[in-house]
Amino acid sequence: MKIIAISGSIRSSSTNTALLYSVAALAPKDLDLTIYKGLADLPHFTPELDGDTLPRVVKDWRTLLEKSDGVIISTPEYAYGMPGVLKNALDWIVSSGELVGKPVATISASPSELGGSKAHASLVLTLTALAGNLVEGGSLTIPFIAKKLNASGELTDLNTVQSLKFLLDALVRVIIDNRK
Ligand code: FNR
Repeated sequence: MKIIAISGSIRSSSTNTALLYSVAALAPKDLDLTIYKGLADLPHFTPELDGDTLPRVVKDWRTLLEKSDGVIISTPEYAYGMPGVLKNALDWIVSSGELVGKPVATISASPSELGGSKAHASLVLTLTALAGNLVEGGSLTIPFIAKKLNASGELTDLNTVQSLKFLLDALVRVIIDNRK
């Protein structure tokens, strides 16, 4: 089973990326969870590039998603929405459709008490436009994230560890059910 994890933050000490590493640590051995590192390398989306001149990095991005069984996205909130780099990456797969019917789990994390809920809502809206399969139990909003990670970026809040485990289990269950 192959899951692609995407952080909406390209910041080197991103809390959202740290959360995805925590999810990876919770994954069973037979689950191949890859954290996508190419978000910043994707060119700005324009339909004019989306054809014969498709950039190599975009081809690779699409292939990675196509070959995955499921996707986890963890996003920060920038000005009440998801960051532009994440929206840009999702815009690149509107025409190619790699997320159509694909099981997807969504996380938002923020230092504020709302946990980036508006960014989460904007992410869900975009994933709905992409016809992703937003799995039941695969949605999480994490407030006060700065207090839940230690200086090394490790998740120290046990309730959040448990919530991430539930989210991953929900995603894996749907992937297994789809195979039946
Ligand atoms: C933010 N932040 C923020 N937080 C929030 O809860 N709602 C918001 O609208 C915004 N807007 C916003 C805009 C910009 C330009 C920045 C730089 C930051 C704070 C944000 O949640 C915080 O920096 C997170 O830690 C970013 O996530 P990563 O990079 O740690 O994953």
